[in-house]
Amino acid sequence: MSCTLITGASNGIGREFVREFARRKSDLVLVARSESLLRQLIAEVSPAGSPEIHICAEDLGDPQSPQRVYEYCARNALRVELIVNCAGFGFAGGYASMPLDELQEMVQVNTAAMAVLVRLFIPDMIAQKKGGVINISSIGGFQGVPFLGLYAATKSFIITFSESLHEELSDQGIKVVVVCPGYVETGFHARANQYPEHSILPVSKPSVVVKAAIKGLYRNRLHVFPTFLDFLLVFLQRFLPRRVVLKTAAFLAPFKYKGESSTSENALF
Ligand SMILES: NC(=O)c1ccc[n+]([C@@H]2O[C@H](COP(=O)([O-])OP(=O)(O)OC[C@H]3O[C@@H](n4cnc5c(N)ncnc54)[C@H](OP(=O)(O)O)[C@@H]3O)[C@@H](O)[C@H]2O)c1
Repeated sequence: MSCTLITGASNGIGREFVREFARRKSDLVLVARSESLLRQLIAEVSPAGSPEIHICAEDLGDPQSPQRVYEYCARNALRVELIVNCAGFGFAGGYASMPLDELQEMVQVNTAAMAVLVRLFIPDMIAQKKGGVINISSIGGFQGVPFLGLYAATKSFIITFSESLHEELSDQGIKVVVVCPGYVETGFHARANQYPEHSILPVSKPSVVVKAAIKGLYRNRLHVFPTFLDFLLVFLQRFLPRRVVLKTAAFLAPFKYKGESSTSENALF
């Protein structure tokens, strides 16, 4: 059975992908740690069992987990035609005080797990001469973001990696799209200790990201910017000195965390 694999399916943007693909009657494999949330979601989107939705509850912070996801699919004869890599999280705060376990988990979940999952599933797609990968990055991946530095670096990794694969696999029937949203209304910010309400940037809905991503996949776009503002913020960087770009990023991504603040001496004005 061919299906779509969605990581980070229990919440936020990933959960919205599940709703959208279930509406389109795609069979799905859902990956996240929160099995109970995944079960609730299936009850909501597929109460009668169609489309068929499988749960593969895994902690992608464990380096062995992508292999287990692959084996789960093989064992259940699930041929993954599309991977949506949504699992990820951020940490806002001074890098010097970032907990080391958080650092390692972020690199593992945001970058390594994504890259290994793609590596494991892509040969089957190549053999079928069709398939797709949707990787969720961020506009934060186009430059450094003070006080969100490691997160921004993981998102840059996703952009560079996806660009390479897009070109490398384009003549083998595989579409690779990297989606670069600005602020989206999800649980991401509470987890990251970030406060988008203190920014002048608007906050969009997960459905906006998902619709843009699927449209981008059909059109085989390289980058997908869910809103015009997301596109504009990245486009304008071409005309600005890098230092100004960095200070603008600090201004647009303010945070307050345990007495630290990026809105005082680190802000643009
Ligand atoms: N929200 C934004 O403003 C925004 C902007 C740009 C990009 N993004 C990106 O969008 C993606 C989705 O984030 P979101 O906004 O939807 O955040 P969210 O609501 O917090 O959802 C994050 C998802 O990632 C999963 N996840 C986190 N750690 C995991 C782990 N160790 N193993 C397996 N799954 C894990 C979570 O599932 P469990 O907790 O159940 O494991 C959850 O389903 C992320 O890559 C994020 O960087 C978000």
